[in-house]
Amino acid sequence: MTRPLSIGVAGLGTVGAGVLRLLRDNAELVAARAGRPIAVTAVSARDRTRDRGVPTSGLRWYDDPVALAFDPALDVVVELIGGAEGPARELVQAALAAGKPVVTANKALMAVHGAALAQQADKAGVTLAFEAAVAGGIPVIKTLREGLAGNRIDRIAGILNGTCNYILTVMRERGREFADVLAEAQRLGYAESDPSFDVDGIDAAHKLAILAALAFNRPVDFAAVHIEGIRAVSALDIAFANELGYRIKLLGIARRTEAGIESRVHPCMVPQAAPIARVDGVLNAVVAEGDFVGRVMLEGRGAGAGPTASAVAADLIDLGRGRATPVWGAASAMLANLPAVPMSAHVGAYYLRLMVVDRPGVIADVTAALRDAGVSMESMLQRGRAPGEAVPVVLVTHETNEAAMHRALDQIAALDAVLEAPTLIRIEPA
Ligand SMILES: NC(=O)c1ccc[n+]([C@@H]2O[C@H](COP(=O)([O-])OP(=O)(O)OC[C@H]3O[C@@H](n4cnc5c(N)ncnc54)[C@H](OP(=O)(O)O)[C@@H]3O)[C@@H](O)[C@H]2O)c1
Repeated sequence: MTRPLSIGVAGLGTVGAGVLRLLRDNAELVAARAGRPIAVTAVSARDRTRDRGVPTSGLRWYDDPVALAFDPALDVVVELIGGAEGPARELVQAALAAGKPVVTANKALMAVHGAALAQQADKAGVTLAFEAAVAGGIPVIKTLREGLAGNRIDRIAGILNGTCNYILTVMRERGREFADVLAEAQRLGYAESDPSFDVDGIDAAHKLAILAALAFNRPVDFAAVHIEGIRAVSALDIAFANELGYRIKLLGIARRTEAGIESRVHPCMVPQAAPIARVDGVLNAVVAEGDFVGRVMLEGRGAGAGPTASAVAADLIDLGRGRATPVWGAASAMLANLPAVPMSAHVGAYYLRLMVVDRPGVIADVTAALRDAGVSMESMLQRGRAPGEAVPVVLVTHETNEAAMHRALDQIAALDAVLEAPTLIRIEPA
């Protein structure tokens, strides 16, 4: 067998320790598939004394991760520190500049700086691999970039954040409110102590930006993603969704339209019968629609040491074999410049919930506002009668334009009888 592929791992947290464990436990089959053993020979983390659950003695230890880029005995640098800036970015840039292939699990880095890093990798003629950056153990990068490479992709949609999917699942199953379920998820270790990256949709948006670049053959553009999180989803809306035949999911969706590419992350109502509506708990799923293949759906664990290490190992095995693909599937100069479509141009159906004072004429005022904005209503639900008191009213619209919907909302929110900011949830076809 040929000489081992010598790798340096920066970051020995959840993912880094998982990678070391996988390469130890599955050493033989990894070597057979890579055509050579894969050996971790150097590492970097902040705290030398911490027990990583895997032995690190005998490995070259660097306090400064960027030093891995200059270790002449290393063939590959694996970046598992995280963050779009700071040591992770410095290390990846330095490694590429030194002509070393890089494997990373860093979605923030790839979403924000992926276009420039790909140009750098192209120029240096080295690989920058990032299977672990999206949906953990689900091989979605390889699927889009290689398996579906012959297709024109028209739409991708995914449950891309396990924390949000877990919270929404528990809210539905137990009829509980967001804040209550989030606090429990934090106690159980399913949510970070600062949960904003997850619950505000940023993590899912990083992943969607990456998927959209691959699906539509264009430079990664995180700034083009419209982002809304799940903080405003209430148990009441989940119950109404159920009654209307939907589930509420935080989806990342990127779609080819006549005007360009629409990319957005927000809570959606999806028909209960849609396969993605049934992906619950911490699981992730991605649906891709290609012109020749039709619809493909992948489902699995989107985070955690094992699944993420599985994805990192796949990239390392490719490197061991000498298999190389351009970062975004085609050379940077060959990427298309399809424009990004703003959210105001989105067309779809909407769920609208209002809390109104139960008195004559209110519904007429609301429907007049919709009519004035050119929004046509498909159905309406009103629960309970409590004259003079607050009652929820739910409206479902036909397909309409987002800008028109917001014009109607402004008018509705200004009505005296409307007691709180209306809740708007987009309805997404299966
Ligand atoms: N966790 C997941 O399930 C998951 C899934 C997919 C992708 N990812 C991505 O994988 C990456 C790593 O995530 P993680 O969950 O493993 O993070 P983590 O548990 O917080 O580990 C981060 C590691 O980086 C090290 N580190 C931080 N700053 C450093 C510095 N200045 N110099 C050297 N080492 C430094 C830390 O060292 P110490 O241990 O000494 O503090 C730690 O070992 C991130 O990009 C993340 O987005 C994670």
